[in-house]
Amino acid sequence: MTRIAIFISGRGSNMRSLVSAARAPGFPGQVVLVLSNDPAAAGLDFARKAGIEALCVDHRPFGKDRQAHEQAIDEALHARGIELICLAGYMRLLTPCLVDRWQGKMLNIHPSLLPAFPGLHTHRRALETGVKLHGCTVHLVTQIMDEGPILAQAAVPVLPDDTEDALADRVLAQEHVLYPMALRNWLEQDRKAAPADAVLLNPVPSA
Ligand code: GRF
Repeated sequence: MTRIAIFISGRGSNMRSLVSAARAPGFPGQVVLVLSNDPAAAGLDFARKAGIEALCVDHRPFGKDRQAHEQAIDEALHARGIELICLAGYMRLLTPCLVDRWQGKMLNIHPSLLPAFPGLHTHRRALETGVKLHGCTVHLVTQIMDEGPILAQAAVPVLPDDTEDALADRVLAQEHVLYPMALRNWLEQDRKAAPADAVLLNPVPSA
């Protein structure tokens, strides 16, 4: 049973969907740690109440020394026997210190159909660009932000009267389905390269 840590920085809705999926009988992994860089992250409280260790490794005491912060995180992960990291709204850029050590063992969810719209404000940029399809991507984390092999994607249509919030809500609903599916597939494949059929289109119907 793979020991999983989920990294968050805020509300943690994707973390909740992963925790809930991992509790289903037969799920090939166990969420044993929720880690945040921000003590105010609402998701920490949820994890505690769910009986999962909730750990804050606050980045602020480390100042600009990102590597020292990541070193502290890495030590905490090893002390707990963590085998896989799921980034889920973790809002710190990672350095090679963590990325290289966890190569092939760190997944992320990004709210766009990568390689389109890496970075922030993806829904606003999708609306401004006029794309007709938008969505979310689960990928392996590599040194370049929001790059790395794509494991799964879910698409939603961009509607004529969409607002940034409405589009974000529609994508988020897909994220909550996609990330647990992608995680399960990844664990069941024994971390081999993603097969072509790992790409999903609209795993749940849009409202
Ligand atoms: C999600 O949109 C995720 O794709 C992105 O950050 C957001 C986190 O939301 N990486 P939540 O904290 O999981 O609710």
